[in-house]
This record gives sequence, C-alpha cells and structure tokens, in this order.
Amino acid sequence: MDARDRLRQYLEQRKEMGESDLVLDNLPVEDLMKVLGAPGKGQSADPAVVVRSPLPMPDRERRAHTPLAGVPAQKAPRPAPEPIGPLRPVAEQPAPTGDPIVVGGSITEAAGASHAAHLDSLQAVSDAAAACKRCSLFETAIRHVPGEGNPEAKFVCVGEAPGATEDETGRPFVGRAGNLLTDILKAINFAREDVYICNVLKHRPPGNRNPTPDEIVACSPFLLQQLALLRPHVILALGTFAAQTLLQTTRPIGKLRGQIHRFHGVPLIVTYHPAALLRNPNWKRPTWEDVQLARRVFNTAAGA
Ligand code: URA
Ligand code: URA
Repeated sequence: MDARDRLRQYLEQRKEMGESDLVLDNLPVEDLMKVLGAPGKGQSADPAVVVRSPLPMPDRERRAHTPLAGVPAQKAPRPAPEPIGPLRPVAEQPAPTGDPIVVGGSITEAAGASHAAHLDSLQAVSDAAAACKRCSLFETAIRHVPGEGNPEAKFVCVGEAPGATEDETGRPFVGRAGNLLTDILKAINFAREDVYICNVLKHRPPGNRNPTPDEIVACSPFLLQQLALLRPHVILALGTFAAQTLLQTTRPIGKLRGQIHRFHGVPLIVTYHPAALLRNPNWKRPTWEDVQLARRVFNTAAGA
C-alpha cells in the first residue's frame, strides 16, 4: 500500500471516530507531507487536519509532564452534590465540549439513588447481578460477569460488556482483548490481580451487539455500587462505551482520551478499548500515553 492509500485509510478511520488530531505511527511525516503537497513542518495543505509527529515534540513533552498539575488536590472542596440517579443513556446527555468532564457529587451519593445501593460488598453486587432480570440479557447470557480483581484495588478498569469467552467463564477480559489488557497493565507495573476489572454491563449482549440505553439504565447501578465500594484512586475507562457512559457524554473517544476527567471526585482517564487496538495498531501509541497518565495520577493519589 502506498502512502496515499495508507493516509486515506487512516483519515477515514479517524473521521469515523470523530477525530481531527492525528498521531502518526508508521507513516513517516515526510511521506505524508509529500502526499499532501504540504508547504512546511507541522502544517498540512488541509487546515482542518492537524498533523502531529510521533517523534517527541515540545507540545507532546509538555502534555506528558503537565497533567498532574491538572489534578485537583484530594482535599479540594468538591462542587455541591447534585441529585444523581442511575447513569443515563448517552442520547439524553448535553452537547459535548472540549474541556475535562466533571460528573459531580460523591459516588456513594450517586449509588445511593439506585437499586444496588443496599449491596454492601462486591460479592453482594455479584449475587444481585447474577439474579438480575431488569433487562432481557439474562435470557441469552450463559452466566453473569460481575468483575474481578483485588477487592482493595484503587485502580479500576471499566470495559463495555462481556464477550463470548467472558460469558463462558464468568470472568471479565479473558479473551484476546483481555490478554492485551493484561499486557497493558503489566506495562504500567500492575498485575491483573492488583487492580479491579469490570464492565458497564454484567451480562453479554447477544452477538456482542451494542448495549441498549435500557440495558445501561438497568445495569449501571451495579457498576456505580462497585465503584462506591472500591473507592478507587483512578478509573480507566476502556473504549467509547465505558467512557461515554461514565462521563455521560456523546463526545467521541478521540476527544475524551488524554485528559483527566472527574467521576464523582475520582480521576477518570479514557483510552481506547483493547479490542480496538487489535484492529488498529495506530492507537497503541495514544493508549500508551493514556495508561502512563493513569499510572502517574494513581501514583500521586497513592502518595507513591
Ligand atoms: N470487552 C469488554 O469490554 N469487556 C470484557 O470483559 C471483554 C471484552
Ligand atoms: N471503538 C470503540 O468502541 N472503542 C475504541 O477504543 C475505539 C473504537
């Protein structure tokens, strides 16, 4: 494939994701410049396309070193709690902006408004999810997949929903994407057993179709209660679905990743879903940046 084809494919993928910023992994910038007939460094012929080199550049350096400055101190006064119910379906959310998103109030308050509020342990959440008939997914799923990991974990990964292997085993992220997640965690010095791994949905949607808004409303209280019990220092939202659901936004993942949001006071970092990385290796680099950011925020919160 020549550079022009690769560029076209790349841009189509980005457009699909609603992105306008490019991080170019395997395509030399010079090739791209030639394709675009671009006049100079860092500029493209199309002003709508912002080209950033994968090589260290001053703004990338800055971005890599400043995020912690953006983490409000743990003791900082929280915004006044708003009444918060179960997570709402994405379609009802306000229009996106480019700023970090703050979902207000405490997790406990948010979970307190839900059907899962009385569940006082992770096991109780799991048992309730196993028996749950609030949506129809229990009819087609083999088993529930509540989540797993260290019950004391302060780093929590949230995915979308169980896939086939997860449905068969009752364990989250154990298929191909799961193995990649395990490797990603290793790369930031976490063993799977150190962290807690769960999903927005606790039962597999048939054929891995997208969850419906009703399923999110029915199931998200379990996630909220898990987060209320775990009280993590950092939440890593994996993929569009977890990110948009937790942050209650329709903003595309390319505009959510790379910054520190707040989910009921907890720093929340968004990155690409490991399954998406398997399809598109170009997302490995930004994912690496995101998980390193998550690790730094974790270290700061843990006083490490
Ligand atoms: N994808 C997810 O989002 N979650 C899993 O548990 C497995 C694959
Ligand atoms: N689509 C998703 O759902 N998640 C990603 O991370 C990328 C594309």
